Amino acid sequence: MADLLQITHPGSGTERELAITDATIRATELRQFVVEGGPLATYDPGYVNTASCRSSITYIDGDAGILEYRGYPIEQLAESASFLEVAWLLLNGELPNASQLAEWEQLITEHRMLPDKLKTVLAGFPYDAHPMTILMASTAAFYSFYPDAQNFTDPEARALNIARLIAKMPTLAAFAYRKGKAKPYIAPDDAYGYCHNFLAMLFKQAERRYHADERLIRAVEVLFILHADHEQNCSTSAVRSVASSGNDLYTCVSAGVGALHGPLHGGANEAVLKMLREIGTVERVPEFIEGVKAGRVRMMGFGHRVYKNYDPRARVIKKAVDDVFEITGVNPLLEVAQELEKYGLTDEYFVSRRLYPNVDFYSGLIYEALGFPPEMFTVLFAVPRTAGWAAQYQEFITDPEQKIARPKQIYTGYARRDYVPLDAR
Ligand code: ACO
Repeated sequence: MADLLQITHPGSGTERELAITDATIRATELRQFVVEGGPLATYDPGYVNTASCRSSITYIDGDAGILEYRGYPIEQLAESASFLEVAWLLLNGELPNASQLAEWEQLITEHRMLPDKLKTVLAGFPYDAHPMTILMASTAAFYSFYPDAQNFTDPEARALNIARLIAKMPTLAAFAYRKGKAKPYIAPDDAYGYCHNFLAMLFKQAERRYHADERLIRAVEVLFILHADHEQNCSTSAVRSVASSGNDLYTCVSAGVGALHGPLHGGANEAVLKMLREIGTVERVPEFIEGVKAGRVRMMGFGHRVYKNYDPRARVIKKAVDDVFEITGVNPLLEVAQELEKYGLTDEYFVSRRLYPNVDFYSGLIYEALGFPPEMFTVLFAVPRTAGWAAQYQEFITDPEQKIARPKQIYTGYARRDYVPLDAR
């Protein structure tokens, strides 16, 4: 039997039964109730309780702390898969078989180079430009090199541009990093896999072959898998929203990069490290916690719109922290982070609000141990998230139910009034 919601509006005497499907009602159905001010709508700043799409890509149960890509638990993917395998899974719905994976890896390897003229664009930025700004602008600039991305309804053109973008993001990120260091760019090397090549393009000096510890390459792979998608978060919603007016992949992902940069979203990893440095020692943690409780500061890397339990990604990262520190030596800020977490998990302020460490709480410590400056942290988030953005973009483009994004407002301004000539004001 269909589940129904019965609503009565005593003011107008309207009584209706609304169908409940997938634990939602259609917001447009509420228009049947005409109330003072017009047809009834919902008011939901920040889309806290509004589903904007149907999606089969990523599943989150925030209360239970569960994250799955296409049904596969994040813990299993982080344990056994490669990032490119996960990117394929997100895009195609199934894990690739051996030949599909080999073909996919080959395609990505072929498209790693940046268009030569893009280097002129990169050269135009000030030396201290934030790498996220460079990433955002250059991602948008890709469209001028690959205008066939406008043929997004053609599956072949769409797939080619998705592969191009996933392939080029690490190269772009590495170039943005080296520009800030005034170091010459390192071209991608076909001999290396996705993550190894990324590290080589970032850190290679004059040596002929770039050697990286396998365990560090794996740590980057795991971080990339954890960051690959996270359903309808702020940046993914930005990607979908920009796609809704008929834009190409590059323009949409550029909007996603911009949204991700904010400190309440992907920029939190950079903010966590800044916070840990400011606190400096374990002894100063109680004073900091008092500031959080008094509302003077936020504990960055804590809290999440969806997770009201330990973020499963944070759990995997916490384990990776130990593995990385075994190789690089322990970051002294780890003690400060652990002390903060102790408060976070026991203090009434955090417990009553169900604030737990999120993905960004420990990732910055790993990034720093790997040799990245804080301004690169969000870039390291954007590179793998490109796979998720592309999968969500593709799903949006092929969803016949989707429309141009256009929320309503509640108007709170003046009622109509007449123009006053300048000399009468
Ligand atoms: N530190 C201190 N208090 C917090 C924190 C925090 N990190 N997060 C939430 N709160 C408090 C709020 O002050 C509020 O308290 P109140 O009820 O007394 O007013 C309550 O918890 C609910 O918080 P909201 O801001 O309403 O929660 P919302 O779901 O809108 O925000 C967000 C989620 C933005 C992630 C928030 O928890 C936050 O700012 N965290 C710090 C930034 C961060 O780590 N962001 C990364 C998120 S993961 C990601 O995007 C990849």
